Amino acid sequence: MTGEKRTILITGGAGFIGSHLVRHWLKNYPEDRVVNLDALTYAGNLANTEDFSSLANYHFVQGSITDADLIEQLFEKHKFDWVFNLAAESHVDRSIQDPLSFVQTNVVGTTVLLNACVKHWSLSNEMNLSAKRHLFYQISTDEVYGSLSAGAYFTEGSKYAPNSPYSASKAGADHLVRAYFNTYNLPVLISNCSNNFGPFQFPEKLIPLTILNAIEGKKLPIYGDGKQMRDWLFVSEHCQAIDVIAHKGKLGETYLVGGKNEYQNIDLVHLIAEMIDDKLNRDKGTTASLIEFVEDRPGHDVRYAIDASKIENELGFSPSQNFEEKLKETIDWYLTNPQWIKDVVSGEYRRFYELNYGNT
Ligand code: NAD
Ligand code: TYD
Repeated sequence: MTGEKRTILITGGAGFIGSHLVRHWLKNYPEDRVVNLDALTYAGNLANTEDFSSLANYHFVQGSITDADLIEQLFEKHKFDWVFNLAAESHVDRSIQDPLSFVQTNVVGTTVLLNACVKHWSLSNEMNLSAKRHLFYQISTDEVYGSLSAGAYFTEGSKYAPNSPYSASKAGADHLVRAYFNTYNLPVLISNCSNNFGPFQFPEKLIPLTILNAIEGKKLPIYGDGKQMRDWLFVSEHCQAIDVIAHKGKLGETYLVGGKNEYQNIDLVHLIAEMIDDKLNRDKGTTASLIEFVEDRPGHDVRYAIDASKIENELGFSPSQNFEEKLKETIDWYLTNPQWIKDVVSGEYRRFYELNYGNT
């Protein structure tokens, strides 16, 4: 692949995973050009892109994947070879408050991108091309498969059974991507991963929320009894998996990516609390005393867990399994980036965009 020079569109590249993927790509494929298209919703933060934003082969565009005219102009201008679609409304709790915006971005926006690919890529013999002249890669979630009972695992063959507006909208997008593969020969890949964590994650998700509240001595909310289980995947490892799937995955296929780190929410929050006590020289148990059980999330999925044998056996990828080390690294990142936190918590990070890009 080195030396092939591709132009890559990464959508949602000012968000959490997207900014890590852009960073990964620029570092590992410096001959490629990367265009980051991001609407800069509340979840988009240009501070996440600061370390690579001045590179000559990186270009940022502020705009929505739902804007068909803009997408057409961008495809016309940049002649994208590969597209990684990460732009999304991504938080389950927000989807319960405002499902329509999830359908707009996650379903309609994905379809706008798919249409542009069909229009701009010559697809007649794409399916013969193991070289992947073109690629549409959809980043999706294991939440499309619904909730698991103890001892069960999601596989690529699991039935779609989404329970939240978020997961239903991501499921809808996955179905459209598969439909474009079958109907138009569009060269596609989908990966469905477990819960990510790491630096630059917006503090609405469990791990960063817990870390920030713990640092500030605020309550640590646990929904319901806290016995729900999630599998945690370090974001850089997720990006590594996306890279491997993009290069080695079979077109039209789905790959599950997990971290092999299953924790009950309550145990995870206790672990973070212990780590924070340690880092901030607090008496043991100080941070855990901030835990507060609150009303459960409606439709709360009890457990997600991934059987990752397909990606392991077929593509040779497995996560490194040093969860506690990565969690400590994540806590250290939040402790050593107080300005990022301050700007996010105060909303100051949005002021720059409102001045430069209008009020999105
Ligand atoms: P995020 O909320 O941190 O970032 C989403 C980004 O998309 C933001 O920068 C936002 O501004 C942008 N965006 C939103 N609507 C847009 C639109 N209409 N047009 C262009 N940009 C838009 O999300 P994340 O956690 O980085 O997730 C990235 C992707 O990975 C999503 O597709 C999500 O469904 C998927 N995913 C995330 C997780 C996780 O644990 N975070 C797990 C599985 C799958
Ligand atoms: P979250 O990070 O929102 O990810 P997802 O809902 O996509 O899995 O939540 C992870 C788990 O933590 C989920 O079971 C809900 C729970 N949770 C809490 O108990 N308290 C909180 O404040 C948050 C944000 C989540």
